[in-house]
Amino acid sequence: MANVKFFSGKSLPLEMHKVRIVQKLNLPPVEKRQFLMNEAGNNTFLLQNRDVFMDMLTDSGVNAMSDLQQAAMLRADDAYAGSETYNRMVTKVREIFGMEYFLPVHQGRAAENILATALVKPGDVVPMNFHFTTTKAHITRMGGSVEELVIPEALEPINDCPFKGNFDIPRLEALIQKVGPEHIPFVRIEAGTNLIGGQPLSLQNMREVSAVCKKYNIRLMLDASLLQDNLYFIKAREEACKNMTIREITAEISALMDIIYFSARKFGFARGGGISMRHQDDELRMKEFIPLYEGFLTYGGMSVREMEAIVVGLDESMDEDIISQGPLFIQYMANELHKRGVPVILPAGGLGCHLNASAFLEHVPHEQYPAGALAAALYIASGIRGMERGTLSEQRNEDGSERYAELELLRLAMPRRVYTLSQVEYAIDRVEWLYNNRHLIGGLNFVEEPSVLRFFFGRLEPIGDWQDKLVAKFREDFGDSL
Ligand code: F0G
Repeated sequence: MANVKFFSGKSLPLEMHKVRIVQKLNLPPVEKRQFLMNEAGNNTFLLQNRDVFMDMLTDSGVNAMSDLQQAAMLRADDAYAGSETYNRMVTKVREIFGMEYFLPVHQGRAAENILATALVKPGDVVPMNFHFTTTKAHITRMGGSVEELVIPEALEPINDCPFKGNFDIPRLEALIQKVGPEHIPFVRIEAGTNLIGGQPLSLQNMREVSAVCKKYNIRLMLDASLLQDNLYFIKAREEACKNMTIREITAEISALMDIIYFSARKFGFARGGGISMRHQDDELRMKEFIPLYEGFLTYGGMSVREMEAIVVGLDESMDEDIISQGPLFIQYMANELHKRGVPVILPAGGLGCHLNASAFLEHVPHEQYPAGALAAALYIASGIRGMERGTLSEQRNEDGSERYAELELLRLAMPRRVYTLSQVEYAIDRVEWLYNNRHLIGGLNFVEEPSVLRFFFGRLEPIGDWQDKLVAKFREDFGDSL
């Protein structure tokens, strides 16, 4: 966002866009919200969007498109093979990442499927700063395992470390020596980290990871799905980069990588994805899977209209005024909640504002899913849909025991260019109310627990009648307010 100072001395994030298409919202009364939350098995993934006032589930595929993106969609060249739209997409991705080879896929996890299928063998180990749910599922599906090597500061909810997503370099090198480089198909950098609060890595740390990979001749791969936030944080927080442009920072990062993949549901403000590669042998290993799983090589399962939107969206991801909107709104929300005593992850990262559910609900143990319980309580209190990022989002251990998450978080994602600051103020207000009434909130139990990615369709029930008490307190405090 532009550097605009307020005469009053206030510091507010100022939107550098105007809204020209709107969608009406619905806020059901609190009793209805309690009913709907239970119809949805106390799982915010199972709510109907029509019943949601602020959809803060994700910033994936729900960001507002620009006028230029919408205009570009009209000139899409619809062809099964060899469309001009594909040529425009390849040219843009090459311009941004500077890599020769490109394969289109329909979204980020499709890239992960192809990468894992082509590169991971049983017994392989994939080091990464932190895992993402779908990434880990694809690697373990192929018989590989994931090792998380993020610096210890990452797991402290509050400190002033500007790059909590950084790799612990000595641990990376020790792991490579222990398992042997031949068992490591690639090192994966997630910039920024999804499950621990959208925390970024510094450019310097990426250089150090790259130096280790070069020393042991291991591929370095970047998951660039959340790169736009990370680029902003490098420019804003890394002293050595403050005079670099976003494009220059992107070029430096890309030069360190062998493979870059991305979900264009986030990076590119549209829906789709892709894999960029520096080496032809990697392209040859993966190419055959595209027509098998995705679609022909010139669309990879994407609609050409979305591909045109991605081409423009990628340019917009290089514009600091545009990419700062998310992080600055998130920082505003996190700082305001912190001032009111609500436990949030600080410094604020990208993606969304993350509530620290273990500190919020100290009385709810891990096995009663505090982050899931807080997600259900927040929907009841406000009509806001967040996403559990805690123990529910983990896979159970092989012996069936729970794998407790390092952090129990309720993520309130900030779809880009979608909500106004007064809507964010409403979210802050209802979270503060919930915090003041936290003793009323209890835990959840599974009623139906799927064995894979259980957080998507698992159904839960409240333990006891805490939701009735919460609704009664809401009525007492807010009267007939929605
Ligand atoms: N990698 C990262 C870092 C992600 O955040 C995501 C998606 C993916 C890969 C998979 O991409 O959804 O296009 O298949 N994150 C979404 C979220 C789902 O809500 O955080 P996808």
